[in-house]
Amino acid sequence: MKIGIIGAGNIGGTLARKLTRLGHSVALANSRGPETLAALAAETGATAVSVADAVKDVELVIVTIPQKAIPLLPQGLFRDVPEAVITVDTGNYYPAFRDGRIDAIENGMAESRWVAQQLGRPVLKAFNNITAQSLAEGGRPPGTAGRIALPVAGDDARAKAVVIGLVDALGFDGIDAGSLDESWRQQPGTPVYGTDWDAEGVRLALAQANRARSAELRELGVQKMQQLPPGFTHQDVINLLRSLQ
Ligand SMILES: NC(=O)c1ccc[n+]([C@@H]2O[C@H](COP(=O)([O-])OP(=O)(O)OC[C@H]3O[C@@H](n4cnc5c(N)ncnc54)[C@H](OP(=O)(O)O)[C@@H]3O)[C@@H](O)[C@H]2O)c1
Repeated sequence: MKIGIIGAGNIGGTLARKLTRLGHSVALANSRGPETLAALAAETGATAVSVADAVKDVELVIVTIPQKAIPLLPQGLFRDVPEAVITVDTGNYYPAFRDGRIDAIENGMAESRWVAQQLGRPVLKAFNNITAQSLAEGGRPPGTAGRIALPVAGDDARAKAVVIGLVDALGFDGIDAGSLDESWRQQPGTPVYGTDWDAEGVRLALAQANRARSAELRELGVQKMQQLPPGFTHQDVINLLRSLQ
């Protein structure tokens, strides 16, 4: 596929590496301009482009930038992008830690619904609940016992099937997590967030998500993360997130 990625950090960079390895053609953009992506482009074979060019002549766009930066994307970015082009949002809302308060989300709108509104474009939510390290290193062939599963939420069945297929090719079981309005079930502070469960575990975790407590658990998670001792491991992070529920 031809894939545009907006954001070249932990998640965008990891996806660029993995998707180019699978043979996809990747156009990659950040906020500072393509010249700052020369090293990553050389490493991966991705093409460094401007944000405007990351949505041109592609079949799928992945938006993977901090939530607070979504309104800073160029106005009308998707205006001329054909409807068939699928858009994926990997974002998470961290008001105190990073993003500042966003009233619509505080008032109960699913984070990715807000992103879709800002972009003027339907999105699917995927890759938001896995750490960059697990995304980079945790992929396994289909059928492997304990294969990490990732929820994919969205309103368009065709688009969801494509993204679930991509998740599978990247080494993870893709789980249909329902509509975009249901995607609060995979936001920070929920049982599926950062916990590397397999397919059965993800289905259970999505069902057990508690909307009333997720913001409180998200903040508790941030606080506990900041208290991890020096030299903490990735497994410590997963254990911490599992222990929150
Ligand atoms: N880190 C994780 O483990 C993880 C896991 C799952 C989901 N997420 C979520 O995924 C999103 C990205 O996370 P990340 O950790 O990859 O972030 P990150 O490492 O901080 O990278 C952010 C990227 O977004 C780019 N960016 C920022 N503002 C932009 C703008 N206005 N236009 C274009 N590009 C812009 C940055 O470009 P510059 O460097 O040029 O500014 C950078 O390449 C966040 O919402 C995060 O919560 C993160």
